[in-house]
Amino acid sequence: MTTTGLTADFERDVRFAVAAPDRVSVWLLRLPEDGLTAAAVRALADTVDADTRRRAEALRRPADRESTLAAHAMLRGLLAPVLEQQPRDVVVVRSCLTCGSAEHGKPSLGPGAPAQFSIAHSGRLVAVALGSPETAVGVDVELERADTDWAAVRADVFSDREWLTDSAESDPSRARTRAWARKEAVVKTTGHGLALPLRRVLPVVGAADVSGRQPWSCSLSVDDGRGIRHRLVRGWDLPPATAGDGYAASVGFESDAGQGASPAQHTVSSLSMAHDGRLTLKTNP
Ligand SMILES: CC(C)(COP(=O)(O)OP(=O)(O)OC[C@H]1O[C@@H](n2cnc3c(N)ncnc32)[C@H](O)[C@@H]1OP(=O)(O)O)[C@@H](O)C(=O)NCCC(=O)NCCS
Repeated sequence: MTTTGLTADFERDVRFAVAAPDRVSVWLLRLPEDGLTAAAVRALADTVDADTRRRAEALRRPADRESTLAAHAMLRGLLAPVLEQQPRDVVVVRSCLTCGSAEHGKPSLGPGAPAQFSIAHSGRLVAVALGSPETAVGVDVELERADTDWAAVRADVFSDREWLTDSAESDPSRARTRAWARKEAVVKTTGHGLALPLRRVLPVVGAADVSGRQPWSCSLSVDDGRGIRHRLVRGWDLPPATAGDGYAASVGFESDAGQGASPAQHTVSSLSMAHDGRLTLKTNP
């Protein structure tokens, strides 16, 4: 299986996610630790549009180029059948809620598109989430780094209460990495990104289900330019078995079609990529 060949294996999950509000599908892709072959990078670059190639080429670190290309290749491989287009013809536009720029901000397929999506990359893990046209989604993955200076980011990211709660955990660094992924999933769902101070984004976490997915919900008041609006983003921490050791992954969604308390139905697929770009399905819990 390659990124262009994702279609057949996951068409059911793609159609499930885009067919109705309160449904989300997530794909997590682990890239090889020591990098892809030049041929595999070329194949990924051939799968994306010129704008994404330009953005990837501008990145200094080869690892970042690979994860950007892999994320966008996976997105296009998944959406191609829904859009009835070739993967490389899928056009992504961006719009910044803060300054209106089309150069950055939440990416989308544009007005009237049959799906919403979100992308994340950290370390060697890449994620794509899909939702219906009425369902904004936001996915985040975070590599837990041994050298993170938590005290230095505390004031920007964590409320005093969160800081104390996570300090009491058996592994505070792991707890903070998970909290960070959750908060970024929220701000990527609303599309504000870091223009929303993460310290003010306070998800409330519920009990994990049998598969280890931990639900959360986050109420927040946001100025969207037309006044303060109340927003409710709901989501899950994905189980460590799907994200892989050392990573935290979280996905949020916000549906126009109701703000009920019931969690959305969702699918999570976990893939790994070999050096030559070949994909293997690891788990599908
Ligand atoms: C979005 C953001 C939270 C991502 O955080 P990160 O941990 O660095 O990176 P991630 O891998 O998790 O996510 C990157 C992806 O998020 C998506 N993204 C970018 N901005 C986004 C936004 N406002 N909302 C939702 N998703 C966004 C993009 O798909 C991006 O990947 P791509 O550029 O390869 O397509 C953060 O980078 C951010 O807020 N940036 C914007 C800051 C800003 O708005 N500056 C200018 C204001 S005028």
